Amino acid sequence: MSDTIKKREEVKLVTVPSPYLVPERNAGKALVLEANHLGIDFGGLTAVDDFNLGMSQNEITGLIGPNGAGKTTVFNLLTKVYQQSRGTIFLDGKDTMGMSSTQVNQAGIARTFQNIRLFDKLTVEDNVKIGLHNSINYHMWEGVFRLPVYWKEEKKAHERVLELLSIFDMADMADKPAGSLPYGAQRRLEIVRALATKPKVLLLDEPAAGMNPSETAELMDNISKIRDEFGIAILLIEHDMNLVMGICEGIVVLNFGRIIAKGTPSEIQNNPVVVEAYLGKSHENKNSGASGTSDEDAKKASGDDAHKSNNRKKGGKR
Ligand SMILES: Nc1ncnc2c1ncn2[C@@H]1O[C@H](COP(=O)(O)OP(=O)(O)OP(=O)(O)O)[C@@H](O)[C@H]1O
Ligand SMILES: [Mg+2]
Repeated sequence: MSDTIKKREEVKLVTVPSPYLVPERNAGKALVLEANHLGIDFGGLTAVDDFNLGMSQNEITGLIGPNGAGKTTVFNLLTKVYQQSRGTIFLDGKDTMGMSSTQVNQAGIARTFQNIRLFDKLTVEDNVKIGLHNSINYHMWEGVFRLPVYWKEEKKAHERVLELLSIFDMADMADKPAGSLPYGAQRRLEIVRALATKPKVLLLDEPAAGMNPSETAELMDNISKIRDEFGIAILLIEHDMNLVMGICEGIVVLNFGRIIAKGTPSEIQNNPVVVEAYLGKSHENKNSGASGTSDEDAKKASGDDAHKSNNRKKGGKR
């Protein structure tokens, strides 16, 4: 286990003047992302309900739960792929109600996707440059006529792309078509492209999916490094429990669209409701006793056998 991981385990969660839990080092800081009573229905299906989350800068939070629990839907709500049916989302204190995906990205939320979405035929560099579009400062006609300001801005963009790619040691791949990269490198490229938009909040949807154990370990260190260097809030959906428990200070557990528990990694691992709903029975035998900070909903979820039997897979979609 790396030093980074050992350090994370020592972090405690404390309440801020609201129902949210943040790492103790962030107790005095304003929330950069705040979701209150968020919910969405698709026809008769309530995919997410009463979702509450507060995050400050410089914080990694895990969002876990069984397949179909509503994790990606939370990301789709935060990034305005869907407008919420209920509740509010504040980014840096600003209500994002009615914003488009582009507007919310410009305001500071960037994401990666569960299924990789790169422009395969474009180079790695051009894929990252798409993320930089908010910070490139020349008018269309200055580009069309290749005026000096165009070359100056392009040079700046090129240098910035290489700098961002070097986070993942990928600078030497800049001129390769994105589609020719190995799978793990494509996942890393998506993170780089998201970072290029200068987010305050970065949402990562299963970044380790399809990676081998050594790539996953490297990714863990890199996510911690990104948080430290950029000082941003990172919300991480992941089924790889080593990754989640290793780098997240706080974890939120969803089941059937509702939060069933919030807490530190050790609280979550020892929470019987979470073990029952997601982590699996074998885990329960090893960790009987202590329970994490669970919401009211935990009681409901734990008593609902119909819901449990609907969980398609417990603890491991790759
Ligand atoms: N656009 C949509 N229309 C109808 N139902 C949807 C839509 N998007 C999501 N759902 C449903 O909402 C529920 C939550 O889906 P979601 O993709 O958020 O789950 P998840 O927790 O990300 O699961 P996984 O771990 O498999 O990725 C599922 O029942 C899904 O079928
Ligand atoms: Mg998903």
